[in-house]
Amino acid sequence: MDLHAPDHPLIAHKITLLRDANTDSPTFRALTSELVNLLSYEATRDVRVTPCEVTTPLTTTTGVALSRPRPLVVPILRAGLAMLEGMMQLVPSAEVGFLGMIRDEETLQPMTYAERLPADLSGRQCYVLDPMLATGGSLGGAVEFLAARGADHIVCICILAAPEGIAYMRELTDKLGIRCDLVVASVEERLNEHGYIMPGLGDAGDRLYGVAH
Ligand code: PRP
Ligand code: URA
Repeated sequence: MDLHAPDHPLIAHKITLLRDANTDSPTFRALTSELVNLLSYEATRDVRVTPCEVTTPLTTTTGVALSRPRPLVVPILRAGLAMLEGMMQLVPSAEVGFLGMIRDEETLQPMTYAERLPADLSGRQCYVLDPMLATGGSLGGAVEFLAARGADHIVCICILAAPEGIAYMRELTDKLGIRCDLVVASVEERLNEHGYIMPGLGDAGDRLYGVAH
């Protein structure tokens, strides 16, 4: 697995605002979307394209079009949903699949409660969206799901990632033998004893959408 952590002052500035406990939900959602705009440029560096011909007002020349099958974007509900629009602005013709996962806050194990994905992902590039990579259970579960359906290149886009989660994803993708890239806005210090990312930003889903229990 290749890790990409673009070093950009606007990314650092927006993360600082996200971390701030005083940032309200509307602002938090807007910042999340803006960060995905910046990260998705890096994340789509290897998106597959096919040469094509284009006729300009003056002549005919060669260009490229997105290859078929189209890329599949998979937000992990809930928090990943806030990243979908920012990603689709860059790749509007992508298809979208959905995975609903919730982490048990006692055991830290993920549970899948919703799935709407194509049955066959052979030859497909998939872009998984989740702002938080903590233990890696949720993102790892999503990658296992996609790999089992035949995806052959998975790009994960996260805002914050703990070193523990990155190590877990490396081990998992090696074991699965699948090409995987991980694009993150910030590699954080560690997980705390409750499985929260430090210094982090708290519970991303709650900060985006309010407390759900
Ligand atoms: C958060 C986050 C990830 C997961 C990360 O979701 O969005 O999916 O936790 O933790 P992990 O790496 O240890 O699995 P959560 O389970 O809180 O659900 P939510 O998005 O509905 O709030
Ligand atoms: N999920 C979150 O939303 N935040 C964390 O810090 C860890 C998991």
